Amino acid sequence: MQAVQSYITENKDRFLEELLAVLRIPSISADSNYKADVLRTAEFIRDRLKEAGADNVEVCPTKGHPIVYGEKIINASLPTILVYGHYDVQPADPLDLWDSPPFEPVVKDGKIFARGACDDKGQVYMHIKAFEAMIKNGGLACNVKFMIEGEEEVGSSNLGIFLEQNKEKLKADVVLVSDTSMISMDIPSIDVGLRGLAYMEVEVTGPNRDLHSGVYGGAVANPLTILSKMIASLHDENNHITVKGFYDSVATVSAEDRAAMAKTPFDIEEYKKDLEINDIWGEKGYTTLERTGIRPTLEVNGMWGGYIGEGAKTVLPSKAFAKISMRLVPNQTSHEIAELFTKHFESIAPASVKVKVTEHHGGEPVVTPTDSAAYKAAAKAIETTFGKSPIPTRGGGSIPIVALFEKTLGLKTVLMGFGLDSDAIHSPNEHYGLVNYFKGIETIPYFYKYFAEYHQ
Ligand code: BES
Ligand code: MN
Ligand code: MN
Repeated sequence: MQAVQSYITENKDRFLEELLAVLRIPSISADSNYKADVLRTAEFIRDRLKEAGADNVEVCPTKGHPIVYGEKIINASLPTILVYGHYDVQPADPLDLWDSPPFEPVVKDGKIFARGACDDKGQVYMHIKAFEAMIKNGGLACNVKFMIEGEEEVGSSNLGIFLEQNKEKLKADVVLVSDTSMISMDIPSIDVGLRGLAYMEVEVTGPNRDLHSGVYGGAVANPLTILSKMIASLHDENNHITVKGFYDSVATVSAEDRAAMAKTPFDIEEYKKDLEINDIWGEKGYTTLERTGIRPTLEVNGMWGGYIGEGAKTVLPSKAFAKISMRLVPNQTSHEIAELFTKHFESIAPASVKVKVTEHHGGEPVVTPTDSAAYKAAAKAIETTFGKSPIPTRGGGSIPIVALFEKTLGLKTVLMGFGLDSDAIHSPNEHYGLVNYFKGIETIPYFYKYFAEYHQ
């Protein structure tokens, strides 16, 4: 292990340069204008995996963006780790809020600023470099399979199909994912939960055309007003979600688990200060960490309609729209919740408008075990490099494919993420600490070592 760690120290500059190179390619999966760039990123990852020493490296086409696969099987008697991550990124807009262009990475104040720096190119690249360090120094303690996809940010539906079609090829003992965050570098933690997602789009139609707001206003329902009221009614005075049946399948978290959660270090004043808010908000009866970790939520992601151009136009719009997402917890399921939402939303529409509800991509919630060899290996690896044992936490985000690792491949996942909530993922000025990047590279080889030791 000494040789592996020295190799990492000696190659830090190159490891950084290589990451910057992949950050320069705008692999925005949601925008078809970037299709060629997404492919170029897949090819870049493929080439780096080959150079690092992986075998059978390929770019696997799908109906959408490709999946990069590669492996190193050194000994059938050793356990196999399936490393999953994504090389696609979220759109970078609003561009004018970036201090430097999103695809021209810069290192400032010890952080790499670029779209994807943390989510998830930076964290994927840690795995490739840790693998290189292990291979070059004869320190690979497990077999490894890499599966790096290009559609996580758009729901991973083609990866779901890929899992179905490649069960044999993907045989492994655990899935290792670095795509989540820690509390801080001083308080390392491991996410043991991801929420599910149901994502809806609603369209409210009033009159058959845009109308003069003086001639018709006051006599015809304004879809924007109606939609606003409908949306406002989705939470009650306790900020409970009013969608009928929404909480029916929510698993209750034991008092013991809630007590453990309450011990997680969390500074509410820091939280408010960071976000420049005077007060927090949320479901009555739950703490902030519970609201984002173990409770389901409903958010309006965007709302539009009518005239939003320069100046004033007097118009009563024909249509109003909104994108509404719900984060789900065990044992809610995405499709069931989408159906409940659709029924509810249709039922609260007044006769003066028509509503159309459509379902976008979704994903199921997961809770990962803390008593497994993989969790213990991740905890010990982090303890080795951070000097502190990590705290298990319940993350608020979603990684849709993780539930399918279990369902389709029968594999548990360990979420050994090195990001921070303050890394501004999906926001302008996304960044990733150099310390996080290199600590990640240093920690991963220990995971291999301890997993090989703990596994059976
Ligand atoms: N890496 C994130 C998820 C995440 C971030 C989990 C931080 C825990 C902590 C992932 O790339 C992501 O953004 N997922 C999307 C879901 C997807 C279907 C668009 C999300 O959570 O909104
Ligand atoms: Mn991610
Ligand atoms: Mn993301």
